[in-house]
Amino acid sequence: MLLTDHLQGKRIKYFQIYRWDPDQSSRPTMATYPINLSECGPMVLDALLKIKNEQDSTLTFRRSCREGICGSCAMNIDGSNTLACLARIDTSSSKTKIYPLPHMYVVKDLVPDMTNFYAQYKTIEPWLQKEGNENYMSKKDRDVLDGMYECILCACCSTSCPSYWWNSEKYLGPAVLMQAYRWICDSRDQNTKKRMEMLDDTYKLYRCHTIMNCTKTCPKSLNPGLAIARLKRKLVTG
Ligand code: SF4
Ligand code: SF4
Ligand code: FES
Repeated sequence: MLLTDHLQGKRIKYFQIYRWDPDQSSRPTMATYPINLSECGPMVLDALLKIKNEQDSTLTFRRSCREGICGSCAMNIDGSNTLACLARIDTSSSKTKIYPLPHMYVVKDLVPDMTNFYAQYKTIEPWLQKEGNENYMSKKDRDVLDGMYECILCACCSTSCPSYWWNSEKYLGPAVLMQAYRWICDSRDQNTKKRMEMLDDTYKLYRCHTIMNCTKTCPKSLNPGLAIARLKRKLVTG
């Protein structure tokens, strides 16, 4: 920070942001934007919105709820996949680097292409499959879904998983596998066997090598690594 900035009460932080525009022939670049933290909200999303509003309206990123519910502001901030709206600006350093979620095709700037991720989610048929109209469930059976139903499908976990980086066409990845297990655990669902047979595949499930990057990075503090371990055990024990 410059001495003059300090004397004027400015707390300047530099945001270095990945920029790439498919309509230009140039390669991706990192652009630097200074922000006076004294005039900015506390979260990284606040800084991104301030940059877009005041410095560069072409900066492109997704966001909607700004409270960790929609999952759309997932990106890589200072080396960790997280939600920009839940990530506090690190005031102890002068720079923050922001990239799109890793190992994804990029649509523009910080916007990843989620097509494959959503297509994989669709393959697990994430809805209740049951004959009849009434869907009773005991409190105990409902409790089993805690820690899984809260997933917002932000893809932070899947895009932090080395197995997913190298096999994202065939390996379902932690987010989708945890949702697959969520439906397998649902006491109301009548297609448990079919769901388990669909997952019993070298690539879809068994590319998980329990590295646990997924659990470490989840911005909702969920544990997809544990869900996958339980899913593998269920496939063995039935
Ligand atoms: S498990 Fe966590 S990181 Fe993974 S998609 Fe769900 S909310 Fe996001
Ligand atoms: S535990 Fe499995 S899913 Fe999670 S990061 Fe490791 S390999 Fe990927
Ligand atoms: S804007 Fe919805 S999760 Fe961040």
